[in-house]
Order: sequence, then structure tokens, then C-alpha cells
Amino acid sequence: GTDGGDSDQASGFPEDDIEVIVPFAAGGPTDTVTRMIGEPMGESLGVQIVVQNVEGAGGTVAAGQAATAAPDGYTMLMHHIGMSTAPALYDDLPYDPLTDFETVGLVTEVPMTIIARKDFEPNTLEELVAYVEANQDTVTLAHAGVGSASNLCGLLLQDAIGVTLQEVPYDGTGPALADLVGGQVDFMCDQTTNTTGQITGGEVKAYAVTTPERVESLPDLPTTTEAGLPDLQVSVWHGLYVPAGTPEDVIAVLTEALQTALADQGVIDQMADLGTAPVDADQATPEAHRALLEEQIGVWGDIIGASQGG
Ligand code: MLT
Repeated sequence: GTDGGDSDQASGFPEDDIEVIVPFAAGGPTDTVTRMIGEPMGESLGVQIVVQNVEGAGGTVAAGQAATAAPDGYTMLMHHIGMSTAPALYDDLPYDPLTDFETVGLVTEVPMTIIARKDFEPNTLEELVAYVEANQDTVTLAHAGVGSASNLCGLLLQDAIGVTLQEVPYDGTGPALADLVGGQVDFMCDQTTNTTGQITGGEVKAYAVTTPERVESLPDLPTTTEAGLPDLQVSVWHGLYVPAGTPEDVIAVLTEALQTALADQGVIDQMADLGTAPVDADQATPEAHRALLEEQIGVWGDIIGASQGG
């Protein structure tokens, strides 16, 4: 409408609360990051950002739902690296990441940690590799469904070791971590935004972080390179999407609110406590986000294709 009262914005957008779909369970890493930025985004937009968790099939159910939402800016999707791996993992994906969405901006890149139930026998990554090789029929690997970040990291890990393990899928690593703490599964890869508290609290065993540099909030945890698996590198980039066809001026309003949220000192501090940081301001743009998405679809398509072919 034209009576929204803000003469700077032709559309008057937003006039109502905005829903953001999170493709995994509440309380997990994607949910955590979304709620962190949702509050300051809502403040700067003068509306509520309402989180809706849509679980299932490694995040692809949510992406399919968001792809067909009204392209009016009132439904956003927070998604991560899985947006670029799902095309290689599913033959019948109900959406095309590049043509069914507009990118709003990148949000953060989160390191992953390799963790296990606290009484799992191996104590180092080297011991984990040996243990998994010797016990591949009984060891269980948790993840958040085919297409999730933990699934991708688990695939890379199994490829690096040369084993095929029994996988236990969950609707998110929130519930997977609860089962790991409870001892129902042996180990998994998961983002520092979910695992930092349990690692520092001693509720799980941690072997390594999957980024080139150590994480400041977990200074004693070696990198995969230091610990002997240099090929295991994953950084879980997150971005905000809206359905294709959303007007450019509406996207511009959302991008600006995202940039405001990422510059918020409270957000920066909360992310730092959980081993991550907002992306640089020039990455929180539709263009940078789309460029990374395109590049990553190529990268993971090749790696997953080679993995499944070989
Ligand atoms: C989640 O929020 O549960 C995660 O991002 C899961 C994952 O992709 O591993």
C-alpha cells in the first residue's frame, strides 16, 4: 500500500510481521542463528520476525515450502550450505535453488566440530579414525538428514577414512545432540553454534574443528589439519532467501535490515561466544550471496558426485 507512512519506501513494506522458515528443529544451530538476527532485524523493521521450524528431509521440505510461498517479502527462508548440496543428493528435489529463490544476503559461516558421546572410546581424531576403521559395523553416526550440513561433513569424514557407517538421521542436530549427550548414538559432526556449550561443559567429547584456523571460543580444540584429516574442511555458510519474483525494493529493505542486525554488537558477541561471526558487510548482499550459492553448487556437485560414483 502507499499509506504505510514511510515516504522513503515506495512499497511501505513491511506493514505486518514477517515469517522466517527454519528448515531444522528448534534449538539447533540454524534456529539459533535465525533467532539471534531475527530480533534486531525485526526491531529495525518495526515488526516481529516470527520463526517457523519446518522439519524434514535434511532441510528440503522447508525449502520446497518457501519456494512456493507468496513472493511478497513476508516469508523468508534461512538456509545454509545444504542449499548447495541438496541438488547433488536428491534426484527429485521439488525446487531449484537458483531459479526458485531470490537471495537476500549471507549471514554467517559456522565451523563444525567432530564430537562423540562422552564415554566413546577414542580420545583423539587419530584414535577415532582407527576405532571407526576397526568397528565400522557397529559405530553409529548421527546427522540432520540427507542434505544437512552434518550429513555433508559425515560423508566427507567417511570418505576420508574409507568406511561406510550406519547413519542415524534426525530432524536437526538439536535432537541429535540430545541423543549424543544421552549416549544413544556414537558421534557426529555439528556446528559450533550448537556444540560449544556441551563441549566446554564436558557433556560430549570433541576431536577437532573443521576449519583452517582454530576457533577462539574453543582454543584447545585442534583443527582437522593439525589432527591428521586435512581433507575434512567444511564451513557452514548461512543465507536468507525469499521466493523468486519478490520485488527488488522489498528485498532491498530486508537486506538493509539484515546488515543492521549483523552490525549489532549483541549479535557479534553472541556469535563470538558460539565460535562464529557475522559475514563482512559486503557479503550480506543479494549479489555476494548468489555468487557463493552458484559457486558452492558446483563445488559440492563435483565432490558429492565423485564420492557417490567412487
Ligand atoms: C540444524 O539446525 O539442525 C542444522 O543446521 C543441521 C545440519 O544441517 O546439520
